[in-house]
Amino acid sequence: MSYPLFRSLLFAFDAETAHGLSISLLRRMPFGQKKFHCSELATQLAGLTFPSPVGLAPGYDKNAEIFSKAGRLGFGFAEVGTITPRPQAGNPRPRLFRLVEDAAVINRMGFNNAGMEVAAARIAGLPRGQRTGPLGINIGANKDSEDRIADYVDAMARLAPLADYVTVNISSPNTPGLRALQDKVALDDLLLRVRAAGEGGPPLFLKVAPDLEPADIDDIASVAMDRKIDALIVSNTTISRPALKSRHAGEAGGLSGAPLKALAQQRLADFRKATGAKLPLIGVGGIANAEDAYARIRAGASLVQLYSALVFEGPFLAQRINAGLVDLLRRDGLSHISEAVGIDVD
Ligand code: FNR
Repeated sequence: MSYPLFRSLLFAFDAETAHGLSISLLRRMPFGQKKFHCSELATQLAGLTFPSPVGLAPGYDKNAEIFSKAGRLGFGFAEVGTITPRPQAGNPRPRLFRLVEDAAVINRMGFNNAGMEVAAARIAGLPRGQRTGPLGINIGANKDSEDRIADYVDAMARLAPLADYVTVNISSPNTPGLRALQDKVALDDLLLRVRAAGEGGPPLFLKVAPDLEPADIDDIASVAMDRKIDALIVSNTTISRPALKSRHAGEAGGLSGAPLKALAQQRLADFRKATGAKLPLIGVGGIANAEDAYARIRAGASLVQLYSALVFEGPFLAQRINAGLVDLLRRDGLSHISEAVGIDVD
C-alpha cells in the first residue's frame, strides 16, 4: 500500500492512537537487521561510526520497542526515550496533535514512559552486534522527583552501559521547571554529576531547547565545553508559535515539524558560532527532505535527526534523504558528507 493511502487510514485515528498503531506494526515487521552502507555518508563522531548522518529523533520510540528496525527504514542511528528512572503516565490525553495544514505536531506528552528498568531489559535483549547503527539513550527526570539531578544520575548509571551514547535532555517544555536546568550554575552541577556517574562510559550528548536568548546560548556552549560534552543536539520542540493555520494551533505544548525549521536552523548556526566549531552539533527540527538535511549540515551539523516529518512523509523518508544527500554532494563536487559540515557558516 502506498504511504498516502496508508496515511489517510492512520489519520482517521487520533494522533496518539495512530502513533501506537505504527509502533505495533513496526514491532511485527519481519525486517532483518539490515545495515545501511554508503561510503559518502558514513560519519565518525565521538568515536562512533554512523552509517548515515540521518537519525531517528527521540519521542517516537520512547520505550525502546522498535529501535532495531530503524536501520531498515534508512536511519543511520536511533535515539530512544526520553526514559526516566521510574515509570510515569505523562499528561492527560489528548496530548498529541497533528497540525496537517502546517506539516507540524504539537505535543505535551510529559515524558510518558515505562521507566528505565523496562527499557534496560528490552535493550539488553538485543545483542549489540545486531544493532544497525549507534543506539542513543535519551534520559530525563521524573516529574514528581524532589532531586531532579539525582534522577539523571540514576538513569545514567543504569542505562549508560547499554548505550552507544547517552543524551541528557533538559529541554522538554512539558515537565514544569525542567528547562531551568539549562541555567549556567544548574547545568554545570548537572553535567558534573552525570559525567561522574558515567565515568569511562559512552559519549555524552546534551539536548537543548530552541527558545534561548543569546546570553543563554553562550552560557550553555561554555559549560558544555568545560564539562567535555561530546556533542550538542539542537533542538527540542519550541514553545513559540509562528503563524499556524491548523485548528490545533492554540494547544499548549512543544511545536515541531515545518514551522520549527527556521528557528532550529538559526539556533544551530548560533551554537556553531558560540562553540567556535569546537563542539560537534546535531541538527534537529523541521527536517523533511534531503535539502533540509543538507542545509542543516552546511550550517554546521555533523548529524541530523527527525521525527515529525515521518508522520506526513512515511516511514521510509530517511532512505529518500540518504539518496538525496548523495545527489546533493555530487552536484556540489564534494566526495564525502563531512566536507559539507559548516561550509555555509565558517
Ligand atoms: C518529541 N521530542 C522529544 N525529544 C526528547 O528529547 N525527548 C522526548 O521524549 C521527546 N518526545 C517527543 C514527542 C513527540 C510526540 C514529538 C513530536 C517530539 C522532540 C523531538 O525529538 C525533536 O527534537 C523535535 O520534534 C524536532 O524535530 P522534528 O520533529 O521537527 O523533526
